[in-house]
Amino acid sequence: MGKLPCALLFFLLFTNPAFSWKKEEFRNCDQTPFCKRARSRQPGACPLTATDVSISGGDLVAKLVAKETNQETPTKPLVLKISAYQDGVMRLKIDEDPDLNPRKKRFEVPDVIVPEFSDKKLWLQSLKEEEEENSGLISVVYLSDGYEGVIRHDPFEVFVRERGENGKKVLSLNSNGLFDFEQIKDKKDENEDWEEKFRTHTDSRPYGPQSISFDVSFYGADFVYGIPEHATSLALKPTSGSGVEASEPYRLFNLDVFEYIHDSPFGLYGSIPFMISHGKSRGSSGFFWLNAAEMQIDVFNGNNSNEFLKLPSDQKRIDTLWMSEAGVVDAFFFVGPAPKDVVRQYTSVTGPTALPQLFSIAYHQCRWNYRDEEDVYNVDSKFDEHDIPYDVLWLDIEHTDGKKYFTWDKMLFPNPEEMQNKLAAKGRRMVTIVDPHIKRDDSYFIHEEASKKGYYVKDKTGNDFDGWCWPGSSSYLDMVDPKIRSWWGEKFSCKNYVGSTPSLYIWNDMNEPSVFNGPEVTMPRDALHYGDVEHRELHNAYGYYFHMATAEGLAKRGKGQDRPFVLSRAFFPGSQRYGAVWTGDNTAEWEHLRVSVPMILTLGLTGMSFSGADVGGFFGNPDTELLIRWYQLGAFYPFFRGHAHHDTKRREPWLFGERNTELMREAIHVRYMLLPYFYTLFREANSSGTPVARPLWMEFPSDEKTFSNDEAFMVGNSLLVQGIYTQGAKHAEVYLPGDQPWYDFKNGNSYKGGETYKLDVLEDSVPSFIRGGTIYLERTDFDVALLKWQMILTLWL
Ligand code: GLC
Repeated sequence: MGKLPCALLFFLLFTNPAFSWKKEEFRNCDQTPFCKRARSRQPGACPLTATDVSISGGDLVAKLVAKETNQETPTKPLVLKISAYQDGVMRLKIDEDPDLNPRKKRFEVPDVIVPEFSDKKLWLQSLKEEEEENSGLISVVYLSDGYEGVIRHDPFEVFVRERGENGKKVLSLNSNGLFDFEQIKDKKDENEDWEEKFRTHTDSRPYGPQSISFDVSFYGADFVYGIPEHATSLALKPTSGSGVEASEPYRLFNLDVFEYIHDSPFGLYGSIPFMISHGKSRGSSGFFWLNAAEMQIDVFNGNNSNEFLKLPSDQKRIDTLWMSEAGVVDAFFFVGPAPKDVVRQYTSVTGPTALPQLFSIAYHQCRWNYRDEEDVYNVDSKFDEHDIPYDVLWLDIEHTDGKKYFTWDKMLFPNPEEMQNKLAAKGRRMVTIVDPHIKRDDSYFIHEEASKKGYYVKDKTGNDFDGWCWPGSSSYLDMVDPKIRSWWGEKFSCKNYVGSTPSLYIWNDMNEPSVFNGPEVTMPRDALHYGDVEHRELHNAYGYYFHMATAEGLAKRGKGQDRPFVLSRAFFPGSQRYGAVWTGDNTAEWEHLRVSVPMILTLGLTGMSFSGADVGGFFGNPDTELLIRWYQLGAFYPFFRGHAHHDTKRREPWLFGERNTELMREAIHVRYMLLPYFYTLFREANSSGTPVARPLWMEFPSDEKTFSNDEAFMVGNSLLVQGIYTQGAKHAEVYLPGDQPWYDFKNGNSYKGGETYKLDVLEDSVPSFIRGGTIYLERTDFDVALLKWQMILTLWL
């Protein structure tokens, strides 16, 4: 696309205030051939049986062969492997036989599973064969003292069940017979058309269809949760099945969605294909598919699925359908049974949340944009003047010279080092934005080097991919290549990043990647990466690699820098090891305040403890009441940052009159008072995976009243917070679970647990309660005074 139309597109997309989410910009399932095909398959359609089941190299191995070959079914056998790991984790891999498919090796996502995970492997020694009345021949392997892994031969099904007489199923794959694996064909049949068109874009699809789909069932489940990122409820609503209005499946495809709406299964900026179930009868289990291609997931209405499974109706369960455009089956089953067990089991595979530095869990002040150094100094001093603590001041894209990252606009920011040092002298940090699109400007050192070295993602013809983003014509670094990541990392040294100091940290945005003139505002699927991997195969992991490269670069800056802070918008399993994420461009509306809670809780359940939403809402101008309520709730987000679009009115906390300043000050003070508690919780997340902000059912797993509550949440095991989500609210209904007492966080009033209370709502806080019998840490005035003295002494010495 030439410059003029792109500029026009940019103008229309990003400057028109009346513009809102445009559904038609994005594909729905019907417009996505693999999704449409998978959704139309009938239960029992899978013709595969397991043969040659044996133990080899400590794993169960088998072949999947088609019983009757017709045009629809694969003709070559697939290879299957089941491995067992400590702590109730089972891994299932299914791929084409590489010897039979010389054309292309299907993509397996590297760099996500932590190396320590392989030490947990249990070397399977033997398998037991059993003939079951309803299932026929099955092979059984040991998983843990309580569980075993099973493969049914005909039709093939893989499941985890409890050991012992009962043998109740916990999780299963292909019980509904919906498994389908499109093998890569050697060549096109004459009548086949492999190209896919969407709006003005054509995807050449040189390898043809290669999707995978299968059903997964969660037994004893009342609800399923997880698979971020969607702006929707915590307990996932069914998308299909009798008694529900069919909707789009939950889409996992990292996208820069302009003005997203507050209740939708459409894909947003990040993707984590990990689902966790919970139910009163059994507890929790989890399923994770390590696959970075576009994925779509259906949740069936639980009441419907018995028809497919032909199981006794007392075996309550939820059925789901997982569909991906490419890749392999690399799936993990987690047995739980407590919710915290499942999250621990998941993070044993993908790694723990990095332990953040204390400053980064305090309050952050951001806006697109703090204009110049004077603006920065002014905002900084106003915080002091109004006795409002904050730790980090952020600079958005306008601080650069023409959106060339690692540069400064010399007119607006002539002395960046001095500016950072002045903030640092007060114990404060600065964050600058560094996005993945590199301006194609020959005088820009990053572009010059990257193009010379061949470090960009290639388009389908083998040229550097050229797309449109903030700087105009841009190319995108191929962060999948470890050599390029390491080169990128070097750019963050204080020597290379001119104008940076050790107190500067980084914000990675637009890393889905966002391409304004690309299909669905992203990179074409037939673009090519390191190792000849097509973009379609790794799309959802692109932002993860960019985040990784940046965090690893910062960690190399020198002494005391080994715990970097990098905020990313896109994410993938494992992103928790590299830093924080936020929920992107939300809107200053009450419904967006409300949905921020399930979004953050879902992220926490899927390993991403360090997350938050833009306080105040990114688009639009919040009225004062909404802004205050947002601060009061945001003070309990794991990541707490105020941010706003450049078209909005300034909204620093002192701009709304004395009383309102006081209310926002108080909210931020609450966060500072709780910093020791938050820090302790981050350590817990770091060691066990348990999220900082938790759904109530994680702490009260047998209390059904908590299962779909996503208006209240726990911060750690001690503090329950209930947001206020409506204008002018006078009362709030708050359910306080458990049989222990609760104490009002503000005034100490006590309440009996296990009851719902209708409470008066005060303007100075959102309802929050301390759980009887627990201990939490707060910072007292004495600590604050001590810190101030320490600071004065440091400055003086
Ligand atoms: C994107 C980000 C937003 C940022 C803006 C400019 O929209 O999500 O937070 O302010 O880009 O960089």
